[in-house]
Amino acid sequence: MAYKLYTLQSIPAHLLPRIALIHLGDAGLLSKLGFPFVMRYFENAVKDEKAFGFYVKDDETGEIMGFSLASPEPSALTFKLAEDKDWFIRNIIKAIFTRPLAFLQMLISSLTIRGQMYEPNTIECVYFTVDPKYRGRGLGRALQKALMDEGRKRGYKKIYASVETRNIASLKATQANGFRIIKTFREGIYHRHRLECNL
Ligand SMILES: CC(C)(COP(=O)(O)OP(=O)(O)OC[C@H]1O[C@@H](n2cnc3c(N)ncnc32)[C@H](O)[C@@H]1OP(=O)(O)O)[C@@H](O)C(=O)NCCC(=O)NCCS
Repeated sequence: MAYKLYTLQSIPAHLLPRIALIHLGDAGLLSKLGFPFVMRYFENAVKDEKAFGFYVKDDETGEIMGFSLASPEPSALTFKLAEDKDWFIRNIIKAIFTRPLAFLQMLISSLTIRGQMYEPNTIECVYFTVDPKYRGRGLGRALQKALMDEGRKRGYKKIYASVETRNIASLKATQANGFRIIKTFREGIYHRHRLECNL
């Protein structure tokens, strides 16, 4: 399988919905809020000055197979969803009625995020997701490793990740990349490990 990595910031706008669709395969809160939230999140992420990421494309078919995203300030990306107040209120009202549990989880998570201290010179592996049909071939690990290499180049000293305790594939990839578990915690319906790795 031949593929190439590209920076997420260089992705043509018409390919961004493909990233959002791949992301919907993640079991996290953003996916549970639905496509409009995912799309808006990645529109903001590719324009963000501090966030960086990668996507991987099949050389033969040109299809995007997966992506990864890191940031020194992950909560800033989340809070950017509310920057356009009209859009946010319209969509959050819809979510309250159509996805009440996701809305409740969003409130719990935003309180947890607010309480999280981010150390200087560190980044968060915010997301790394591979289209189900390309999983198990080393892409997840390579996409996360690309974040680590780029983080090191940018002068960051440490990378963190939170992984659901039952997400074996993500845990294996993350630990194979050198992360170690530093604590395990509950965030609403999620039971997560917190992992770190020196860069
Ligand atoms: C996590 C994810 C990105 C891994 O991508 P991937 O390309 O399948 O991972 P890799 O092929 O690089 O595999 C990494 C390790 O996980 C193992 N693995 C992959 N899928 C597995 C599965 N379903 N069950 C158990 N182990 C699995 C691989 O064998 C490999 O282990 P090894 O290094 O000991 O051989 C992918 O499963 C995914 O997109 N999941 C949904 C989104 C998600 O959960 N993202 C992470 C959020 S923290």
